[in-house]
Amino acid sequence: MTGTAVYPGSFDPVTNGHLDIIERSAKVFNKVVVAVLHNRNKEPLFSVDERLTMLRESVEHIPNVEIDSFNGLLIDYVRQKQAKTIVRGLRAVSDFEYELQAASINRKLDPEIETFFMMTNNQYSYLSSSIVKEVAKYEADVKGLVPSPVDEYLYEKYGPFTAE
Ligand code: PNS
Repeated sequence: MTGTAVYPGSFDPVTNGHLDIIERSAKVFNKVVVAVLHNRNKEPLFSVDERLTMLRESVEHIPNVEIDSFNGLLIDYVRQKQAKTIVRGLRAVSDFEYELQAASINRKLDPEIETFFMMTNNQYSYLSSSIVKEVAKYEADVKGLVPSPVDEYLYEKYGPFTAE
């Protein structure tokens, strides 16, 4: 498949589940733009700049990935990047309803832009940024849950992991 795809999300912080989707979609598309939403509704743990830094450090080994951030409607951003595809990962049935709604509204806003779903690798199907923050908050080890550069950033927020 050719062209540019946008992989949007909050990435607060990026997990190994996200990284798996980035690595696999980078094999399918010429270029993947990972786009961090400036989300005013949610109170994030990490600033947008911190999330961008963690993502950049996590994808250094993948040449056709760009890290960026966006404000406002996703579809406007996708058009601005001259991309034709949105990538989203699906973990479990619980993701389906929200993703169906989002893909449907995005298709209504621009029928030329397709949403492309990838099933999360089974080993990461339980992972989310929230569960990682919960584990780190109680100072348990997050190794294996997040890309290695992210360990350090969680450590800075929450202190040392006690599991080691
Ligand atoms: O990682 P998340 O929080 O599940 O990502 C959600 C995201 C960023 C993809 C979604 O909230 C989004 O696209 N927001 C931008 C506003 C928008 O376009 N809304 C309409 C489609 S849901």
